[in-house]
Amino acid sequence: MPHALLQDRVAIITGAGQGLGRAVALEYAAEGAAVALLEINDETLAETAQAIEEAGGEYKTFALDITDYDAYARAVDDVMAWKGKVDILVNNAAIAIYGTILEDELDNWRKQIAVNLEAVYMGSKLVAPHMAAANYGRIVSVASIQGFASSGEAGPYNAAKGGIMAYTKSMAVELGAYNILVNAVAPGFMRTPMSFVDGVDETTTPDFLEWYVERGKIPLRRTGLPEDVSGTIVFLGSEYCRYMTGQLLVVDGGLMSTF
Ligand SMILES: NC(=O)c1ccc[n+]([C@@H]2O[C@H](COP(=O)([O-])OP(=O)(O)OC[C@H]3O[C@@H](n4cnc5c(N)ncnc54)[C@H](O)[C@@H]3O)[C@@H](O)[C@H]2O)c1
Repeated sequence: MPHALLQDRVAIITGAGQGLGRAVALEYAAEGAAVALLEINDETLAETAQAIEEAGGEYKTFALDITDYDAYARAVDDVMAWKGKVDILVNNAAIAIYGTILEDELDNWRKQIAVNLEAVYMGSKLVAPHMAAANYGRIVSVASIQGFASSGEAGPYNAAKGGIMAYTKSMAVELGAYNILVNAVAPGFMRTPMSFVDGVDETTTPDFLEWYVERGKIPLRRTGLPEDVSGTIVFLGSEYCRYMTGQLLVVDGGLMSTF
């Protein structure tokens, strides 16, 4: 363990089975946090748990759907029974269902708003009283650059991400008196299982490579990896972040700086 930026911290991470959530779980555990892994897919959840086990980290697994709020509440109770506190919540889990308003169904809107926004509200609501009682907390939510600008065909997803940005500020204002810091991260393109659309990794298509990489629409000229973003989420959960709340950190290789 090279550092201990999160020594003795207890963190809940949603969507910890793969992609960014797994990278955050591994990095949090490596930094000394005890991590509660919440994930709907029990196979990927077990893989993340095994990786943390092999690295000597401390963890507990919860195979659940974060929109099942009774199950989510029981998980928070279990974490309290396990460690007596929740220092950090990382609202990471999300789903993406592609389609324009002309072809999309209301049900797809509801599903994405439920996982990507409502569960951010509910998860935060479940941990906030414990954090307030302890006069300490960090809530970090994963938004997206799609909350600022749209690549098309992802309206409900983008609406949820924009909602996270606004709600982060609201929570920061409401919870500041309890020393609960609430911030968000907006990744750009990241190579994760979510970047596969119809079986194709959209960050490896010729069009993507030409426009974003070769022509420099992403100034750093590569697609992001989960490990490029997880360190920012470590920072936001750590003591290096102690006078910053209500903020959004964009981690996109410079993409939003170009037009
Ligand atoms: N991949 C990208 O390019 C990109 C870009 C910007 C933002 N993001 C955001 O980063 C975060 C992580 O995305 P990712 O790319 O790792 O996605 P991913 O699809 O690879 O991983 C998401 C994880 O969340 C889990 N999950 C989904 N619904 C759940 C539910 N109801 N209950 C519990 N777990 C659930 C999934 O099973 C999966 O393990 C998301 O908030 C996403 O919107 C991703």
